Amino acid sequence: MKTIQVLTVCLGNICRSPAAQGILADVAERAGVPMALDSAGTAAYHVGNKPDARSIKALLNVGLDIRHQRARQVAKEDFAQYDWILAMDEQNRRNLLQLCPPQFRDKVVLFGEAVPGLHLGEVDDPYYGSDDGFAHMVTHLTELSEAFVEYLRTHKPR
Ligand code: 4NP
Repeated sequence: MKTIQVLTVCLGNICRSPAAQGILADVAERAGVPMALDSAGTAAYHVGNKPDARSIKALLNVGLDIRHQRARQVAKEDFAQYDWILAMDEQNRRNLLQLCPPQFRDKVVLFGEAVPGLHLGEVDDPYYGSDDGFAHMVTHLTELSEAFVEYLRTHKPR
């Protein structure tokens, strides 16, 4: 099976998309689906920073370490390189589509809508909320990752 290139994207690249990268990498590895991942933000506010301490902690609680990740902004070259560009929410998806060359638009999808027929919603931004929001984010991202990896495992590559 060809290695599938996946970019997870949120606004700041410190809360949701680093968590999505860590969780998706783990789910894919355990399912035997070869996947190369990175994450990025549509905004540049946090470029070079580690993930938010609350995301790091929520992931450590489920045995995953994302402390090595550093935030970066989405770049034009990402649209050619990645097979899937998974937006955490609708605003992220709209911002990505504004940057995306026309021939790559199909690669940009809402993570919760990546599997045809499944509508698993937006990944809510937990940045301004409580720690509960981060625990909920982990549960939601795990559900999305399991559905996405199962889809990749059972369908032809795009
Ligand atoms: P993320 O969360 O998009 O999941 O990384 C946010 C991080 C930072 C900000 C907003 C959302 N911010 O406004 O700085």
